Amino acid sequence: MQVQRRTISSDTQIVDIIYQHGSDILESPGMRLSDTFMQHGTTSVLLHSLRVTSLALALARNFEIPVDVRALTRGALLHDYFLYDWHKPHPDNVAHGFTHPFTACRNAVRDHAIGELEQHMIKTHMFPMVPLVPHRREAALLCLADKIVATRETMQRRRKR
Ligand SMILES: [Fe+2]
Ligand SMILES: [Fe+2]
Repeated sequence: MQVQRRTISSDTQIVDIIYQHGSDILESPGMRLSDTFMQHGTTSVLLHSLRVTSLALALARNFEIPVDVRALTRGALLHDYFLYDWHKPHPDNVAHGFTHPFTACRNAVRDHAIGELEQHMIKTHMFPMVPLVPHRREAALLCLADKIVATRETMQRRRKR
């Protein structure tokens, strides 16, 4: 499918974009399950994914970067859609950092029929730890937003200790 890029006007509310393009994902059983798994500290995977999506969209809007708004929203919401508790001891969880982008992508294709751009975003979001380069702008925005949000969530957890 052809990528349709546009800039997001400065008066657009990020929450409205997420509601327009991602409400079916947010209301799905898989995303509700993501709310029960912790990502960093006391942050659930769902809350982390919402924060990352909001920041990726805000970066695109505030820097006037033309993006495929729907793909950016949906790929970001689903970037950690791995659907298990990675803190529990299990042979599959040992390499979680390296494998979860591919698990998340498989699950997202199965449950939400995402396109090629969203798949690229999800598979490359752990760059450079996973050496797949996010060469599409939506993927680069997701990768950057995920690093910023994850760092902040991890630092908040440390401060609470
Ligand atoms: Fe991730
Ligand atoms: Fe993430």
